[in-house]
Amino acid sequence: MKGKFITFEGCEGVGKSTQAKFLIEYLKNQGYDVVFTREPGGTPVAEKVRAILLDPSLTIKPRTEAYLFVTARNDHIENVILPNVEKGKIVICDRYVDSSIAYQGVARNLGIEYVEKLNKVAFETCLPDCTIFINMDPANSWRRQKGNVILDDRLEIENEAFHAKCYEGFLAASKRYSDRYLVIEPEIDKNETFNKILKGLKEKNIIN
Ligand code: TYD
Repeated sequence: MKGKFITFEGCEGVGKSTQAKFLIEYLKNQGYDVVFTREPGGTPVAEKVRAILLDPSLTIKPRTEAYLFVTARNDHIENVILPNVEKGKIVICDRYVDSSIAYQGVARNLGIEYVEKLNKVAFETCLPDCTIFINMDPANSWRRQKGNVILDDRLEIENEAFHAKCYEGFLAASKRYSDRYLVIEPEIDKNETFNKILKGLKEKNIIN
């Protein structure tokens, strides 16, 4: 039986990775076979591309940046995501093609359709069964509220206007691909946020 492919999306510092960890633990306890991965990265080749993408000492033009994300993604799809879904596992990925739509398509102004075309392999062969979008404005993110922000990668250090555009991009994606989206309004209590995710996944018949 085919497995499932679930992605987490959202702006920086909104608690995606924490919620992904909660979900993995929950599913493992329920007896599901779970594979956790992330983008950019997830394979030896893609992790090398990640190092280039996040290196703050490099200046990378938007199109080159978009192609690098696609290069990493295609390697990840072929070697990790598809083979594991075909084996019946639940693959959970921290960020995926919707981050390219938001960051490269909208924030870098390449256009959503341009980024969709570049990501032909993802759109035609490997779309998530469910994309969990943590709907939080980066201006109010938990990370900002805590005030102890250490920004060190090439995309994180972009200005507020850039991150505001990324958020706009995710909102646009959540409408454009609404069928596979689970939009989650975060709560102060992480467990409450997680309960919303579980409820949504059950309602969408992604898990039992
Ligand atoms: P990461 O440290 O994984 O970010 P986070 O902890 O916020 O998930 O760094 C990934 C960065 O790359 C993040 O700023 C988002 C960006 N990104 C894109 O611009 N396009 C993409 O397609 C992906 C997958 C990530």
